[in-house]
Amino acid sequence: MNGVVQALPKRVKVCEMGPRDGLQNEARSVDAATKIRYIDLLSETGLPVIETTSFVSPKAIPQLADAYEVYTGIAKRTGVVYPVLVPNAKGFARAREAGVRAIAVFTAASESFTKRNINMSIDESIAVFAPIVREARAEGMWVRGYVSTCFGCPYEGPVAPSKVAQVSARLAELGCQEISIGDTIGVGTPNQVLDVVTALARALPLERLAMHFHDTRGTALANVTAALQLGLATFDSSSGGLGGCPYAPGASGNLATEDLLYLLHGMGIETGVDLHRVREASRFISAALEKTPTSKVYLAPERWHKTG
Ligand code: HMG
Ligand code: MG
Repeated sequence: MNGVVQALPKRVKVCEMGPRDGLQNEARSVDAATKIRYIDLLSETGLPVIETTSFVSPKAIPQLADAYEVYTGIAKRTGVVYPVLVPNAKGFARAREAGVRAIAVFTAASESFTKRNINMSIDESIAVFAPIVREARAEGMWVRGYVSTCFGCPYEGPVAPSKVAQVSARLAELGCQEISIGDTIGVGTPNQVLDVVTALARALPLERLAMHFHDTRGTALANVTAALQLGLATFDSSSGGLGGCPYAPGASGNLATEDLLYLLHGMGIETGVDLHRVREASRFISAALEKTPTSKVYLAPERWHKTG
């Protein structure tokens, strides 16, 4: 890395989080039919990955208790990957019953958050995930691993980049094809992106990384720009800026997909995603939630929006 700015990627993969990270943290629940319509609208946008729901405990996340109905109800568009969150063997069994083809396991770089979020230590989570990832890969599923609290923990404060790299490498060794690096509470700044990515680059190939920024303090786009300059080319975002994690006090939504697309397309980076259509999906789900999206681009005049 040596502080050298890389050529910007020509194309970026955008992973949509709205139906999962978004809806898990909305106080108002929407019914399965509304979720299905929302995901079907997102499927028409060109997004390559749409995280669909979570097979977690309905006591932990009541908003996504209808995971089976939603997953089996959506129209699966050829070429689009529809991952679901799986925290344990029970979740994996439920996901399999629903016929999922892509899963995401999730842990964190800090012990306190891991405990509050999934009631396990980091070591325990890796032990629980090992057979799940092995079986999923043997069945030809696509597997992602999340590392939360990579830029700060709501309970422990600062988190060492070396710890982020260590947990990420363990998930990669289990067989996770992509590792998503979460700024769960949206505290990161671009200098930290450099520190975290530099530590990660020593542990695993950067092509396997995705960056998952929450925009709690308005730094997500600056962080994306820093990551692009380091050669990263996969980013998570949620339409309209929905979302957050209920086990991270004060966490707000993911970086909005509209805002990410505007930045990327303006920089001449292709995504294959139609910003106008994402906006229509955000309009639909916002009406159901009776809230105005936080996305700045959603709220701005559309004549400036480029396709990508
Ligand atoms: P636990 O209480 O230790 O689990 O929770 P347990 O095994 O003792 O089971 C307790 C009860 O839950 C039992 O039911 C189980 O059957 C049931 P009871 O006997 O009491 O009736 N249960 C389940 N039910 C359905 N599906 C399951 C399941 N597992 C157990 N999979 C557990 C441990 C992991 C289950 C729980 O803590 C949990 O579900 N946590 C999920 C929390 C969550 O979803 N958080 C948000 C996602 S992470 C995130 O947003 C961050 C991310 O976006 C990246 C970033 O931003 O950093 C990914
Ligand atoms: Mg998140």
